[in-house]
Parts: sequence; C-alpha cells; structure tokens
Amino acid sequence: MSLLRIVYFSENRIGVSRRHARIGELLSTAITRNRQQQITGALLHDDLWFVQVLEGAPAAVQATFNRIVPDSRHHNVKIITKAMVNKRLFGEWSMGLAMRTPQTEHLFGAHWCNKGMNPGSMSEKNALDLMTALNRQGMLISGLPAKAA
Ligand SMILES: Cc1cc2nc3c(=O)[nH]c(=O)nc-3n(C[C@H](O)[C@H](O)[C@H](O)COP(=O)(O)O)c2cc1C
Repeated sequence: MSLLRIVYFSENRIGVSRRHARIGELLSTAITRNRQQQITGALLHDDLWFVQVLEGAPAAVQATFNRIVPDSRHHNVKIITKAMVNKRLFGEWSMGLAMRTPQTEHLFGAHWCNKGMNPGSMSEKNALDLMTALNRQGMLISGLPAKAA
C-alpha cells in the first residue's frame, strides 16, 4: 500500500496557562479526526516545539496537514520530510503523544540536545528514532489525565 508520511516541526504558541488542558483538547480532536481518516502518527511536545508524524492515504494526510498548518496554537510549520512509504511506523496510534517531562527526559535528551528539541538540526531519523523509542518504552499516550495546569 502506498502511504504518505509527513514529518514536520513547528513552534508552540500555547501559553503556560492551562497548557496541559489545551494539549489534551488538541490531542482529542486529532485522535477523533484521524480515526475517521485512518491516519496514524505521533506528536511530540516540549515547551517550545511540536514535532509530528502523520501517515496514511496521501489525500487524507495532505488534507489533514493543510488544516494543521494555519492552526493558531502553533506557527512556523516546517516540513522535515514528505515521502511515500510502504508501511506505517505508528499503526496502532491514531495520534500518540509524548511531552517532554522528567519521565521522558532521558529519551528526549538522548535524541536531541539537552536544552530542548532543536529543529534546526533535527533530521527525519532523529525525530522518528525518538518517537519509536518512546513507543517501545510505552511512553506514547492517547490522552492526558485531567489536571489543573
Ligand atoms: C500541533 C498540532 C497537531 C495537530 N494534529 C492534528 C491531527 O493529527 N489531526 C487533526 O485532524 N487535527 C490536528 N490538529 C488540529 C487541527 O489543526 C484542527 O484544529 C482540527 O483538525 C480541526 O479542524 P477544523 O476545525 O477545520 O475542523 C493539530 C493541531 C496542532 C496545533
């Protein structure tokens, strides 16, 4: 099967206030919409950045990406890679999220610089290796526990 995979990074615009809840809302919309379109992928977030992989039927992935780009919760969206692939890397995730937290820090730190994700020097391999490592260690999540931010 021919699938389109897009990997991009963007700058976060969600402020500190209620961030946890707002990321939760974003994830919930993403999962609902992606399920309808059989899109799978992973989303990483630290204070400054988002990095996301979207994979699925080309038209569905492109339409989803086109909706994501103008979203005011982020800006400066830059594609790292856009390629046709034969198989999904995150087939079990309508959208698996990992945030940079003390629990995930050892993996984020190992794949990126210690200060924060650095998209300027991020390759597709960096991004996918980190997402895959988080997935293997059970650190992708499909929802956030309710918590006052
Ligand atoms: C970083 C980020 C990642 C997102 N990921 C997805 C996604 O995977 N799928 C999706 O449908 N929407 C995603 N969204 C939300 C879309 O931008 C959009 O709000 C949503 O699809 C609803 O679009 P609509 O209001 O035009 O129907 C994401 C938004 C941001 C900021």
